[in-house]
Amino acid sequence: MRAFEALTVESLPNRLGSQAAITGRIGSDPAKWSVREVGDGNLNLVFIVEGPAGTVIVKQALPYVRLVGESWPLPLKRSFFEYNALVRQAERDPGMTPELLHFDEAQAIIVMEFLTPHVILRRALIEGRQLPKIGQNLGNFIARTLFRGSDLHMETRKRKADLALFADNVELCDITENLVFSDPYFDAPMNRHTPGLDGVVAELRADRDLKVEAQRLKHLFAAKAETLLHGDLHTGSVMVTAEDTRVIDPEFAVYGPMAFDVGMLIANFWMSYFSQSGHEQDGPRDDMRRYLLATADEIWSVFRAEFSRLWREERRGILYQASLFEDQGDTLGSEQALQGMIADIWTDMLGFAGIETHRRILGLAHNADFETIADEALRAACETKALKFGRHIAVNRSRIHSMADIMDLAERMEKEIVR
Ligand SMILES: Nc1ncnc2c1ncn2[C@@H]1O[C@H](COP(=O)(O)OP(=O)(O)OP(=O)(O)O)[C@@H](O)[C@H]1O
Ligand SMILES: [Mg+2]
Repeated sequence: MRAFEALTVESLPNRLGSQAAITGRIGSDPAKWSVREVGDGNLNLVFIVEGPAGTVIVKQALPYVRLVGESWPLPLKRSFFEYNALVRQAERDPGMTPELLHFDEAQAIIVMEFLTPHVILRRALIEGRQLPKIGQNLGNFIARTLFRGSDLHMETRKRKADLALFADNVELCDITENLVFSDPYFDAPMNRHTPGLDGVVAELRADRDLKVEAQRLKHLFAAKAETLLHGDLHTGSVMVTAEDTRVIDPEFAVYGPMAFDVGMLIANFWMSYFSQSGHEQDGPRDDMRRYLLATADEIWSVFRAEFSRLWREERRGILYQASLFEDQGDTLGSEQALQGMIADIWTDMLGFAGIETHRRILGLAHNADFETIADEALRAACETKALKFGRHIAVNRSRIHSMADIMDLAERMEKEIVR
């Protein structure tokens, strides 16, 4: 086997020019390919390769974090986990991921469909674009992938094999464990925040209830290996057109609690909500704000409805067996168990969502939603609202029972704090 070698714009046509899966798609003469690098990934190399007959994406992991360099090593095997997660997601919710064309484990290369004219959802939301299909598409995606990767649905031998397979994604899991659950709550070396936030940051770090809650959530993330998570499901991992929604970049995939993907995803809509007042150069964004709260609500209600449908129609794993419920004429028992499970996901989802807002404002990996607000005082005002909102939902999660309450809370916080 050839040793790992990073691709370059120049070397790519020679190195991949004899791959039938690629030549079949874009044309067989690599001299006619044009290659350009997409600059916006933090961790990996991503190339757009265009030939006379079509275009593909070539994504390659490096033995380190692309943006930082060799001082932050990160294993190539993240590409293996990304590929394996994409294969499973494509089975569990067909049409929601880019088509896979080729995988080279030793070179950590994934070749996939070039999504066009798709844009990153986060960018669209910053521009104030309303996408009509994402609530439905993303709600179904989380319900289907989370349900169908669990012991509610899978044959338990296969689920345990997958649990073992993805358990080796230790290094990326470690990034989540530290960057999401711990770093924001102390003076960690890689943290940064907008200057105007010093006061609120000191308050949050001194907040014992919040620190305890963040650690309870970390415990849940580390110990509750319930289903295969995407692991990094934010609006930067979704590509959209008005008609089509795709989910990319599951390199953080690992077995964990269902509520993690749900909470991380929905939190990014709530953060976009609080960032909108920083993007009102071309007029007020009231309508966009309503759309964002409504979309978070829709994702949750579509998730709940689809998860319930799967529970009733595809529950054939080792958990809550029909032999104990439906087969005994006790459908009510199975419905009671379902409602209990959804209530638990709701409560934990709020916790994960709350701390996701903190790590995106105080930790290493910030959101363009806030970062693109040039006026620092305005940015700090937007971020303060999101931080306080996040603190409230994380700490009070067992006492919040409806999306209507969350929408009221968000609207109150948006108005209350002076811009
Ligand atoms: N299948 C695709 N079709 C079109 N564009 C894509 C595709 N996959 C990735 N991209 C583009 O490349 C960028 C980087 O991709 P990706 O997020 O997978 O890389 P990464 O290095 O894992 O980044 P991150 O820092 O988000 O982890 C995306 O933001 C998107 O603009
Ligand atoms: Mg990534």
